[in-house]
Formats: sequence, C-alpha cells, structure tokens
Amino acid sequence: MSSPPLVFFILGRDLERDGTLNRDVTPHLPIMEISSLLSTFTSQPSILLEPIAYRMYMSPPGIPLDSGLIEFMKRATTLHFMGTQDYKYHSPMESLQDATLDFLEVIEADQSFLDHLSSRTQLKTGMVTFSIARIYHGVPITKDIDQAMKERLGEIFRVHARMKVNLENPDIPINILISTPAGTRVGFMFFISLHGRGYRKRDYTHRLSGKRPTFAVGTMNPPLTTLMVNLCTMKPTSRSLFLDPFCGTGGILIEALVQGFPVLGLDIDGSKLEGCRKNLLHFNQRGNWNPVGIHLVQGSIFNLPFRDGLAGGVNGAIRIICTDPPYGRISSLNSRPLLGYITKLLHVGLNAKKICFAMPERKKNKLKSVLGEFMVKSPFSFNVEVIPYHHHSSFKRVIVQLVRKPA
Ligand SMILES: C[S@@+](CC[C@H](N)C(=O)[O-])C[C@H]1O[C@@H](n2cnc3c(N)ncnc32)[C@H](O)[C@@H]1O
Repeated sequence: MSSPPLVFFILGRDLERDGTLNRDVTPHLPIMEISSLLSTFTSQPSILLEPIAYRMYMSPPGIPLDSGLIEFMKRATTLHFMGTQDYKYHSPMESLQDATLDFLEVIEADQSFLDHLSSRTQLKTGMVTFSIARIYHGVPITKDIDQAMKERLGEIFRVHARMKVNLENPDIPINILISTPAGTRVGFMFFISLHGRGYRKRDYTHRLSGKRPTFAVGTMNPPLTTLMVNLCTMKPTSRSLFLDPFCGTGGILIEALVQGFPVLGLDIDGSKLEGCRKNLLHFNQRGNWNPVGIHLVQGSIFNLPFRDGLAGGVNGAIRIICTDPPYGRISSLNSRPLLGYITKLLHVGLNAKKICFAMPERKKNKLKSVLGEFMVKSPFSFNVEVIPYHHHSSFKRVIVQLVRKPA
C-alpha cells in the first residue's frame, strides 16, 4: 500500500531578506535539507521534490517513513494539504474570501483529520494544546481575513478536535499557508503545517544567542544552525559523534544536541569552551529530549587532542562534522587563512559520513581550488549554496555540504 505524498513548506522570509535572491533560486538550500532528511529516514538515496505552490514542495508518493516518522517530523515542516479552490472571479480578494470560507468548511467536515490532530501527542494525558501562530500566504490577504480565519480555525480546533489553546508552549504549533498553484495565477491552495522546523528566528526564541547563558559575538543562530544540522543529519545513535571542531559557545552543537546527537566540541579558546559547556547543559536540561553525551575538549584542529590522531579512536566514531570555521577579526586568536582551516577540516573528516560548513561568499572562488584538489580523491559528493547572512545584506555565506558517496 503506498502512502500519500509528503508535502513540505520550504522557506520563510528570514532566509530571503536579500533581494538579490529570488524565489526561484533561494529554495534550493532548504530543498537540499529536505532531501537530506528524506534520504536519512528512508532507504531512498535521492528524492526529487516537485514544486506545487509558492514555497511548497512535494515528495513522490509512497515514501516509507514508518519507523522514522516521529524523528523526521521533528526536523522538517510537513503540511497537511487541504486542496485547491479554483476561483475565477474578477476580484482576487473576493475570490480569496470565498475560497477561505470553503476551506474552513472542508476542515470542519474532515473529522478524521481533526481526530488525527488531537491524537498526535500519544504520550500526553489530558488535552492536546495548540496555537495558531500565523497565516503565511503567497497571495494578497487583508488583516481582516487573516484575523477572521485564525479565530474561526481556533474555534474549529477547540470544538471539533477537542484541543486547548496554549500560545506559550503548544503541543502543536499550527500554521496555515495559502498559495497559488505552481505555474498558474488561478485559484488558491490551502495547507496546514503541523509540526517541525521553523523557518524564522522567532520560531526559536529561547535558543537564540541572546537567550543562552553565554553569549559570544559571532555565534550562529537558528534557523541557520538548524538548517546546517539537518544538512548533515543521519539517524542519531549513541555511538555516532557529532563534531564541531570550532565550536565556540556552541551555536551549532545546541541544535545537534536538541536533535539527539552525542556532541563533541573542540575549541582552542578555553573561555569559549566554558561558555559552550554552560549553554549545552542549559539546553540539555530543558527536558524535551534524552540526555546524551556532551564532550568538550580544548585544543587546536592542527594538533588534535584525540587519541590515535586521524585514524581511529574518537575519530573513528565521528560521523558528522558541522562547523563555522574562524575567519576575520572575530578569530583574532589565530592568523591562519580560512582555507587552511578548511583543508584541515576535510582531512579530519575523512571518516565522516556527512560534513557541513559555512564560510563567507567572498572566499568562494578560492574554495574551488581547495575543493578541487580534495575532490580528485574524495569519497564525498559536494553541494555548495550561497545564503544571505541575516544581519548584513552585503555579507553572504556559502554553505558547503559533503555527503559520503555510496561505497
Ligand atoms: C566562527 S567561531 C565559531 C562560532 C561558533 N559556531 C559559535 O556558535 O559560537 C570560530 C571558533 O574557532 C575557534 N578556533 C580558532 N582557531 C582554532 C583552532 N586552530 N582549532 C580549534 N578552534 C579554533 C575560535 O576560538 C572560535 O571560537
């Protein structure tokens, strides 16, 4: 029996603030992310996602997710697709109002979906809570429609799904997405997102750098760190270590820990490591996931403090490397050029399954020469994508993903 296609919401505005990246270009990185997750949680090595609407993508039907479903849902934003309303009135706003009313009726009548919602948190006793965080739309929508829709949906979920509102810490954060079908300007598509990865900073308020016990300039924030961790996701096991060899105060390791990986952080700067320890312990105590290993070691990537050097020991257990190597003034402790760090990183990662790192776009051309040499004998395939850095529009990052080729 084949299961229905999985539909994904790919991208939020935080990742496309830079006007030079348009909607045709920007989604590529999140598509790589979803593909990375799908290939982790299914046996299919590469899965093509079809665009179905603005920011919505669909995987082919029949992908067997069974055992990994819960894990998978924590990491991706999946959508419940409610169907297309084909309206051809002269005024798009009039059409949208009508389509919205129809959409609400469809949900209200779909008791199996509403039951599915209220039974989603199986371990929970008592009522499942929800919030309708917002309504995204790739179509023009007035505040009135937006507000009316939230209120009406809230009522439907309360009455027909027997759920309770909790704006602070809901079991199910619900988003409604309205879009036009890909390649057309006619009609609207309605989706409900049920879970998963947020695409905006405000989806991660308590894990943003300013909210952590220790803050350091240059630390990375979600959603970028979440994206990077997902780009090198594999099923967490107690024996596969997630290494950030330039961990700083742990921006990336926090996200890895949240996803259930035992983490290993290396940094040359003892005070950063101390901050990293505080941050990781803080988030490990929040109780949403099992405590897993936290290993922090002071040292330089050029003189690894792990036993057995590159060949075995701890290194044999390092399956994932995800990092933001030093560059510019933030890393004034060091005078090495960025590409020296990256070359070293690639050699440390020779046994890894997945590697992901960030670097400034202005160094991208030089990267080609480093990767060029490395790629000749490399066991990895490479994906390189540019992403705007949120705070300075002139500064862009490149995200590099390396995936071990099948043996
Ligand atoms: C860009 S920062 C990483 C920031 C980190 N992602 C965070 O969230 O805080 C680079 C880090 O690399 C560390 N570093 C510099 N040279 C190093 C070396 N040779 N070996 C290991 N760590 C090094 C610096 O101390 C700094 O914390």
